[in-house]
Amino acid sequence: MIQTDSDPNPRRAVRAFPDLQALSQAAAEEIVLVANASVAERGVFSIALAGGNTPRGTYELLATRHRDDLDWSRPIVVFGDERFVPPDDPRSNYRMAREALLDRVPIPPERVYPVATDVPSVHEAADRYDRVLRETLGEPGVAAAGTHSHSASATVDVALLGVGPDGHTASLFPGAPTLRERTRWAVSVNAPSHIQPAVPRISTTLEFLDRARVVIFLVAGADKRVVIGEILGGGEAARRYPAALVAPRGRAIWMIDQSAMPDGRSNA
Ligand code: 6PG
Repeated sequence: MIQTDSDPNPRRAVRAFPDLQALSQAAAEEIVLVANASVAERGVFSIALAGGNTPRGTYELLATRHRDDLDWSRPIVVFGDERFVPPDDPRSNYRMAREALLDRVPIPPERVYPVATDVPSVHEAADRYDRVLRETLGEPGVAAAGTHSHSASATVDVALLGVGPDGHTASLFPGAPTLRERTRWAVSVNAPSHIQPAVPRISTTLEFLDRARVVIFLVAGADKRVVIGEILGGGEAARRYPAALVAPRGRAIWMIDQSAMPDGRSNA
């Protein structure tokens, strides 16, 4: 791990790594730590998985090297976002997570909550997932979607997130009206024109992500360097990036491959 300058934000830890393999190993270790602590404290561990490519290595390590380091009957798995495609589509985040992790560990299928995309519209998919998240993670009797929930309870123990080259996270894109949503936990997103895959999405909201106990950003790729540099700099300009707007009440851990570090910091 590369030590980075002490970060001005005490609840934000920034850990830079020499390569994606080291980042994935550290991420898997952190997830195991939080999972076992959550189970010890509350008997359950809930995690929102990220899509895209970067998390794949972490998922594979959880399914192999760390397979026996946690009790797979305890996790509840939801998704931070999903593309509005069939579950077996190569672009499906659920398919990637299934192949890299979920089909390789003894987690009871009923504890995995993919976004149902076999519905007539992405809006219907988002409405349903908003309900699924509240029923699965929310407090009993938490207000239904559409009314402001006053529950201060956490949503998930861990929310894994990636960052796009435009600073998006989950499927919250720069300037999108979904960034202002502070009641729903899941929303529908029109197909982005500038980011692949250009398909409609279902995304969790900042309201959902900010109430995670721990948010872990997994970031790799030189195409993120400019955005990461601005976000780590903490200036007001960075707030145009949705990833910079995630402000969990708990901890935020930025796990960044050196290829995405602003000055490509060398190994410690
Ligand atoms: C998605 C992801 C998205 C992803 C970023 C980074 O559905 O595409 O949720 O937010 O995390 O685009 O993707 P990479 O990890 O592939 O760079």
